[in-house]
Formats: sequence, C-alpha cells, structure tokens
Amino acid sequence: MAPNTMRRLFLIICITMITNAIEDMEFWRNVARDELKESLTYRWNTNTAKNVILFVGDGMSPDTITASRIYHRGEESYLSWEKFPHVGLLKTYDVDKQVPDSAATATALFSGVKTNYEVVGLDANIPLADCKSSLNSTYHTDTIISWAQDAGKATGFVTTTRVTHATPAALYAHCPDRRWECEAKVPKTASNCKDIARQLIEDEPGKKINVIMGGGRQVLVSDVVNGTNDPIDTYACYSKDGRNLISDWSSDKKLLGASYAVVQNNKELSEVDTENTDFLLGIFSNGHLTMDYARDQSPEGQPSLEEMTVTALKILQKSKTGYLLMVEGGLIDFAHHRGHAAQALQETTRFSDAINATLSMIDTTDTLVIVTSDHTHALSFNGYSDRGSNILGIAQKSRYDGIPYTILSYSTGGVNNMAYKIGDREAVRINVSLYNTSDFTYSQQAAIISDEAYHGGGDVAVYALGPYAHLFHSTHEQNFVAQVIAYAAKIGEYDSSAAHVIYMNSNILYLIITVVLVQISWSLI
Ligand SMILES: *[C@@H]1O[C@H](CO)[C@@H](O)[C@H](O)[C@H]1NC(C)=O
Ligand SMILES: *[C@@H]1O[C@H](CO)[C@@H](O)[C@H](O)[C@H]1NC(C)=O
Ligand SMILES: *[C@@H]1O[C@H](CO)[C@@H](O)[C@H](O)[C@H]1NC(C)=O
Ligand SMILES: *[C@@H]1O[C@H](CO)[C@@H](O)[C@H](O)[C@H]1NC(C)=O
Ligand SMILES: *[C@@H]1O[C@H](CO)[C@@H](O)[C@H](O)[C@H]1NC(C)=O
Ligand SMILES: [Zn+2]
Repeated sequence: MAPNTMRRLFLIICITMITNAIEDMEFWRNVARDELKESLTYRWNTNTAKNVILFVGDGMSPDTITASRIYHRGEESYLSWEKFPHVGLLKTYDVDKQVPDSAATATALFSGVKTNYEVVGLDANIPLADCKSSLNSTYHTDTIISWAQDAGKATGFVTTTRVTHATPAALYAHCPDRRWECEAKVPKTASNCKDIARQLIEDEPGKKINVIMGGGRQVLVSDVVNGTNDPIDTYACYSKDGRNLISDWSSDKKLLGASYAVVQNNKELSEVDTENTDFLLGIFSNGHLTMDYARDQSPEGQPSLEEMTVTALKILQKSKTGYLLMVEGGLIDFAHHRGHAAQALQETTRFSDAINATLSMIDTTDTLVIVTSDHTHALSFNGYSDRGSNILGIAQKSRYDGIPYTILSYSTGGVNNMAYKIGDREAVRINVSLYNTSDFTYSQQAAIISDEAYHGGGDVAVYALGPYAHLFHSTHEQNFVAQVIAYAAKIGEYDSSAAHVIYMNSNILYLIITVVLVQISWSLI
C-alpha cells in the first residue's frame, strides 16, 4: 500500500469538490495514473508468515462494503482494507446448498473443507444433526487454529457474537448442528454429543486458545440472570445443567501455572496487564454483544470490536514463534437479517476501524492479513440515486406507481416493517417518505415478505496483504483460504518443523540400524 498516493488522491478529490471544479478528462486520467503508479510498486512478498490475522465480516456482501464506504466517507473514500494489493473472489456454496449458512462457510474458511449446511467442523459425510456419525473422528476437520498451535504459535479469536456461535465454533468444535451451543439445545437422542461450549473449554484446540473474547455467558454458565441491559437471548441456547465453564476455564489455566485473566466488562478489559497475561477469556454479555450504535460504552458496558482486537494483539504479539488471530464482525449479518441497513453499515465501519487499528500495530513483512466474508446477504443497492446522496435515503419515485423507494432495500425480509398495505385484491407499497429511513431502528422494505432477510448465494470478496497475499488473485473456492494460510505460515500440511522432523529423523535412524544389521548378518554368514 502507498498511503501517500491514497492521501494525494483523496486530496485531489476533496479540492475538486470544494472548488466545485468539473471532474473532467484530465481529472480522471490523473486519478487513473496515480492508481497505476501505486499498482506498479506492488511486489510479491514470499516471506514465511510468522503471524496470520483473518478478519471475517459475517454477511458482508460486496454491496454491503460499497454502501458502508459511502456511509462512512463518501463514494471516493476507501474502508481500511480496500486498498490491500491483492483481491479475489470466493465461491460460497455449501456441499448441499447453493445459498450457505455461516457454520458450513466457516468450516470451509478455517479448515479448508466445504461441508453441509449448518454443520460445524465435520466433513460432508455427516448429515445435519446426525450425532452418532459425527462421533467418528475420521470426519473431524482440523483447522488453522490447531495447525498454528501444533507449530507452537499463540492463537486467539474475538467476535461480536457468542463465542460459541457458528463462525467461531468452526475454529475449534466438531458438531453436527450449529444450534447445540449448550446442553439445552442438544436433543436427548444426541446425549453422546458434547455441546459446543464444553468443546471450547474442555477439549483441544479450544482449551489451548490464548485469547477468547465475545458474548455468550448464557451458554457457558447455568441460570445466568436476565439483565435489563443484558437480556437472555431467548432464541439461543440457555444453559440449565449447573455448569460454570468460565470457572472451569480458570481452574484449568491455574492448574497449568499459566498467567490468565477473566474479564466481563470494559473496566476489567482495560485493566488487563497484557504484558503478563498469556490467557484471556472475555465474556461481555449473555447473548451476542449489543449493536455498536446502542452499546453501553461505560466502564460496566461492552467493548468495541476494535478494543477487543487491540487487546488480543497485545497479548498474542508477545509470542516469539508468532500467532494466529481470527476477528469476526459478527453483527453485520444480524443487522441484515432484520433489514436494519443503518446498523449493518455502522457495524461494517466499526469492523473497518478494528482493521485500521490492527494495521498500525503490525509489520506486514511477516504478517499475513486477510479480510473476507462468509456469505452475502439480501441487501440490494439500486435506483439511480445522485452522487453524494445519503446512502440510507430515498432514491426516487417508482416510475410504475409514483411511490418513493429507498436506495437500499432487501429482496427478502421485511416482517418488521411490512412494505405493503394489503387490501382485498391488491397490495400497495407503503410510502417510505413517511419514515426516517436513516434511523438505526428502521427496516428497509423487502420485496418478498419472509420471517427475516435471507443470506445470498453470491461470491464474496477476499482482500490480502503481507506474505503470499498474491495467492488470492482470481475466483477461488472458499476453502482455498485455509490452504493459503497453511502455505504462507508453513503450518498444517506445510509444517516441516517439530513432529515431522522427528518422524523423518527416526526413519533415517531405522534405515541406519537396518543397514548395520544387514552388514552384521552378512559378516556372520
Ligand atoms: C485509520 O486511522 C487513522 C488514525 O486514526 C485515521 O486518520 C484514518 O482516517 C483511518 N482510516 C480509515 C480508512 O478509517
Ligand atoms: C470411522 O469411519 C471410518 C471411515 O468410514 C471407518 O473405517 C471406521 O470404522 C469408523 N470408525 C468407527 C469407530 O465407526
Ligand atoms: C428476559 O426479560 C425480558 C424483559 O426484560 C423478557 O421479555 C424475556 O422473556 C426474559 N427472558 C427470559 C429467558 O426470562
Ligand atoms: C409520499 O409521502 C410524501 C411525504 O408525506 C408526500 O409528499 C408524497 O406525496 C407521498 N407520495 C405518494 C405517492 O403518496
Ligand atoms: C433520522 O435518524 C438519524 C439516525 O438516527 C438521525 O441522525 C436523524 O436526526 C433523524 N432525522 C430526523 C428527521 O429525525
Ligand atoms: Zn446469518
């Protein structure tokens, strides 16, 4: 990246806008010349990636990125990762579905193996919710987290969702149903299957993860209170079996003699002594974290994705052998599901802030940074709005019925804000000018009314910077991401250290012994 070129470009555009000069032939040729000059400076980085940071914007479709960029600083601007030198597209379909869910796509991203819809960390031999067949470890997919741990690297993840939610779960769990986050959602017939929360705290690689931050107290600890500012998510698993997995986590780290901390609000997070902490568990809410626009930022409140990411990096960066960190902007998806475009754009800009802060803390000569998404969403962006329009505003009136429509809308959803007044024989679309369509609680209209806005099946973008970032250069299958990480960091199947070397050495030893024995035998004959 050439920040100076970026700044110059931004300046040209600002000056042009302020002076109201026409963006004429010379203007656009200069913009393109600057971009060409910058592009010609790119060199492939073939260092080994000592560190890897993977950012996943859940449900962050290409149109979500464009709309968020405009929402943030206008059409001419860029979000923090958009000028990464290497960009590709990822095909997101599952083994059994054209339009995927986050569990299967996260399994592809983190383990390099595509699988069935709503299945976590198991290959396509396992049908959804089939506990019995999921117990066979032949089908368990190992992941970038276990590969990094095997190579002696520190590991971590932070998310704005429950730490047991579909995306993070695929880093450490093997579960035939993403809903089995705690015991209360595991059916009686599947009682041999360990829920996702217990896999995180009790099993490897979960228990060896250095930094874990997000929400999900209600799945980790039984019978937590239903707080007014921190409600139980009644849709999600709510543990009742007497567990306290937070204290189990602490006991385990104490037994290991490790330096550890558990934090549950902003004040506690800010007091973490990152220099002397090797394990951190941050659980800031019963369910998912609160949307950023409504987040309690007081000492008793919840941190931003940026604050969690910065703390995670400070802890992981102490590792001499490097680290692997996954950061999920998990609420972009939830905002979209409810048709709240303003919330989705705000969550995306806060995701950008977390990446921006990260870039100022790392050295990209030895750190691979990947920014991508798991799947697209029902958001659409159309209607010939003027340049500089409020992206959350109105595009124009429909040429069919004269009723205004918003620039952003959804193809499915709209149950929170019915788009149509339904009469006896016809449905008339409701006039959007009667609402504040920029409000965080407004739901944009949807063409097809359904219980929520659905995921999309389109390709997502992948942006990369650092060692082997150039391996993203084309249209790829989504599971390629894990393969690139393994190759760039020399982990997983590309790890030639420790275990493999000893294995090779012992083979050589056997060879020598055999040769010696054969010679002795010969001399005896
Ligand atoms: C990144 O952070 C710097 C320093 O706070 C700020 O000047 C810059 O505008 C940010 N960039 C983006 C794309 O948000
Ligand atoms: C696990 O699956 C493999 C491959 O299908 C099979 O060979 C093996 O017998 C199975 N193990 C058990 C315990 O069922
Ligand atoms: C938690 O309290 C809210 C009201 O504050 C209520 O709507 C919800 O049903 C309660 N949830 C549970 C699990 O008791
Ligand atoms: C839509 O509402 C606006 C604001 O109240 C009004 O000016 C406009 O005439 C309405 N359009 C239609 C087609 O009802
Ligand atoms: C509409 O909502 C936005 C975002 O909450 C707010 O900034 C703006 O003031 C509101 N506009 C009106 C007219 O109430
Ligand atoms: Zn979703």
